[in-house]
Amino acid sequence: MSIPVIECIKRCTANPAFLDRFYELFTSNPAVREKFSKTDFDRQKYLLGHMLVMLIKHAYGLRGADERLTEVARRHGTGDLNIPRYMYNDWIDCLVRAVRETEPNLPDEVMGDLRRVMEAEVATFISRAENPTNAPAT
Ligand code: HEM
Repeated sequence: MSIPVIECIKRCTANPAFLDRFYELFTSNPAVREKFSKTDFDRQKYLLGHMLVMLIKHAYGLRGADERLTEVARRHGTGDLNIPRYMYNDWIDCLVRAVRETEPNLPDEVMGDLRRVMEAEVATFISRAENPTNAPAT
């Protein structure tokens, strides 16, 4: 985990073009687009921007974000949005690609850190989506 990754995500999420591009890439898969058929995208982009910063801070050891992460993860589970695992891989790929396009000069090392952090955080998110009792007490 590195400070440049946190700074990169803060810059990207403050840039509306980044979130536009992420959802453009992500919803280019019709099965994913279908999941968002009733979504207000202005709201969605705003919430995702916040959540990405939260994920990064969580990865950096700031546990204050846990409760909200569990709540959002639970919405994605089988009882509600029912998001299949493979879509999370797409999600990571689209996110990394949108960052790469937004910040083409970012060093490869930072891009590599970003992917690793996101893979670890998404694994935690999925385990909470599928079994909310995996959430820690803090
Ligand atoms: C770790 C990865 C993900 C994060 C951090 C994330 C984050 C979020 C957040 C913050 C919300 C808004 C929750 C609210 O309304 O309070 C949301 C909703 C949603 N997410 Fe995700 N998400 C992730 C992965 C995915 C994936 C892989 C899909 C697959 C299609 C997906 C589909 C949706 C849908 C359909 C909604 C509901 C939109 C609506 O309210 O209409 N998410 N997500």
